[in-house]
Amino acid sequence: MSAGNAHRREYLEALGIDLWLARAAAPAAAPIAPPAPGSAPVTPAAAPGGAAAAAPSWEALRAQVLGCTRCALHRTRTQGVFGVGPHRVDWLVVGEAPGAEEDRRGEPFVGAAGQLLDAMLRAIGLDRKSNVYIANILKSRPPNNRDPKPEEIAACMPYLQAQIALLRPKLMLAVGRIAAQSLLDTAAPLGRLRGQVHRFGDTPLVVTYHPAYLLRTPADKRKAWEDLKFARNVYQQLLQASASDGHRT
Ligand code: URA
Repeated sequence: MSAGNAHRREYLEALGIDLWLARAAAPAAAPIAPPAPGSAPVTPAAAPGGAAAAAPSWEALRAQVLGCTRCALHRTRTQGVFGVGPHRVDWLVVGEAPGAEEDRRGEPFVGAAGQLLDAMLRAIGLDRKSNVYIANILKSRPPNNRDPKPEEIAACMPYLQAQIALLRPKLMLAVGRIAAQSLLDTAAPLGRLRGQVHRFGDTPLVVTYHPAYLLRTPADKRKAWEDLKFARNVYQQLLQASASDGHRT
């Protein structure tokens, strides 16, 4: 068994996914569709204070987030939670909002759900230390982990847009209903959004379950694994498409 396969086996076991499923053929990724009507427009970085319009550096953007007072959540948070990962990566994972542990440590997905997210990402060869960036829709923790309010999402979205403008990911993975619905500007249930390539502006986007949901509903881990394989196929298609574009030019 190759080192890569050994890793995958280890993480699929952590996910509680039977190995026969891991060996099953991945669903073919649909061809990348043009921007869907109704997909969220990416207004290039209409960031607070106009800063993203002037393309802030990562450091400047982080400072803005840490000092942000755009919504009431700044009164109850311990700190803003900016994002984690290298800045030259192809993958961007977007979650909902920091929880208690993230609020305490200042890093996304470091609690129990984060451990499962790390295992999910490892299963498709991704690691926050080397090849994926992780951020949330909200940078401040909602009290008692309640759902984000629409006005909080609206206030915070320019920060994520500015992160995307800096990162220029090849593929986004939205984890959970709130992230998927906010990014796609839809009220469609998560189940209907899975298994398709959406777009956030120009960036292809795939949807899967939130790891916190999967901790509560382990039976759906199999479906999450299908989503991850789908995302990995989409990514491979994107790489192939850009390689053949490169050959044409
Ligand atoms: N849930 C999220 O959506 N994001 C985090 O950072 C932690 C838990």
